[in-house]
Amino acid sequence: MRCPEARHRVASAGLRAEGTGLPRNFYIRTYGCQMNALDSQKVAALLCGAGFGVAEQLEDADLLIVNTCSIRDKAEQRLYSDLGRLREWKRERPGRVIGVAGCVAQQEGDAILRRFAAVDFVYGTHNLRLVPALVAAAEQGLRSARTAESRDPGRFDVPQLHPDLPSATPGRAFVTVMEGCDMFCTFCIVPRTRGREISRPAAAIEAEVRELAAAGVREITLLGQTVNAYGRHDLRRGRAETAGTEGFAALIGRLATVPGISRIRYTSPHPSFFDAALVRAHGEQDALCPHVHLPAQSGSDAVLERMHRPYTAAEYRALCDRLRAARGDVAITTDLIVGFPGETDADFRATLALVRDVAFVDAYTFKYSPRPGTRAAEFADAVAPEVASARLEELQELLRSLTLAAHRRRIGEQTEVLIEGTSRHPGQVSGRDPYHRVVNLAAEVEPGELVRVRLVEATPHSLIGEPVAIPVKYPAGPADEGMRSAQL
Ligand code: 5AD
Ligand code: SF4
Repeated sequence: MRCPEARHRVASAGLRAEGTGLPRNFYIRTYGCQMNALDSQKVAALLCGAGFGVAEQLEDADLLIVNTCSIRDKAEQRLYSDLGRLREWKRERPGRVIGVAGCVAQQEGDAILRRFAAVDFVYGTHNLRLVPALVAAAEQGLRSARTAESRDPGRFDVPQLHPDLPSATPGRAFVTVMEGCDMFCTFCIVPRTRGREISRPAAAIEAEVRELAAAGVREITLLGQTVNAYGRHDLRRGRAETAGTEGFAALIGRLATVPGISRIRYTSPHPSFFDAALVRAHGEQDALCPHVHLPAQSGSDAVLERMHRPYTAAEYRALCDRLRAARGDVAITTDLIVGFPGETDADFRATLALVRDVAFVDAYTFKYSPRPGTRAAEFADAVAPEVASARLEELQELLRSLTLAAHRRRIGEQTEVLIEGTSRHPGQVSGRDPYHRVVNLAAEVEPGELVRVRLVEATPHSLIGEPVAIPVKYPAGPADEGMRSAQL
């Protein structure tokens, strides 16, 4: 769990668009966070609805969308190296179309069209609905970039399901509850790529969750850049466009009553928006998973201040204590940045101390990457790259030992694994337990099934389990109460 950036692929059997006579299959290459992965899933559903088929691999596609990430320089550079190579892909078959989406698209807009002749259209993070029209225009030879920001919460209501589109993760789904960020951490580009905070009305979220449950989803992950800030503008300022929102804990309570939903997760919360109700929910809501991914970024108060993170390391520790008081076994994971401008050795030691004190089960760790347009990009006192690399290595070493220790402590325990697919180890399947730990097991079970296992072995990255009961197969449709409690 050292870096959340992963390539997600939205693809399945190669279908052909009917009625057009044209083989119009799409392929989406996704970089970055879960919000991007969900955006890709939604655009895939829109394209299926517009008569496109899903290409298994890039070679079979007529339309390629690259959904980009700009959180760190490395992620952004991937787009540019991809686009260089894609010129050739486009030449191989006349009529092929390339679209660029996501955070780089939002920032660069039509500059991408000017710089890369092979790109036919660009759309921003608020403009998913326009994709079928942009493709149709591209097929007529019209190149366009659409990156306008929108304050309409209706922009969230793009379905992620379509009968032709297999779920990327059977049994699990992501649900956007808010988007954007008003925190402006000095290192972070997200407020400039995802816009201002906006929350989605609770009734629309509940309706989507009911639909997902009816389609067989058992676990939902509520998504938002500062997910636990959900509803705060509406609650505090009565903004009309987010009418119908409520506090985040109340939203969790509402969704926990949806029949069939047995696991609720959320990512990523901000430490500053953990109110007493959310902490309490961890002790009271059975469906709320005992895992909190709580980005700390640093354990040094001086660095936190320069990062514009409005809490101290002591306040962060106290919040972890409150969470553990509410739910003793909660697994806490985090995000940490090393090499932020001006970070001294003492600052870095304070981060190591925080990691040891909180005993994180795991963490995403990053070397600071200056992002043009952010305040920190102007800061003096850059940390030398070799110093940042050494700090990253030391931090990861500590985390590896903590992860292994946390895994070892759990040997002998029983847990429930939602199977995601085959494991890297032959003959094994892999899934996650309520603590969000990867558990591998040798069993013939399908993705989406929930299996009770006993943990028998710990490795630095995962746990190995043995099934203790025949897996429960859940029908597509709301489960009854008996089934819900059987899953918990
Ligand atoms: N450099 C390094 N890491 C960053 N993150 C965000 N911006 C940067 C940056 N400029 C990390 C933070 C955040 C996670 C999603 O990515 O830790 O929580
Ligand atoms: Fe970026 Fe900070 Fe907002 Fe998170 S809270 S998205 S790190 S600006």
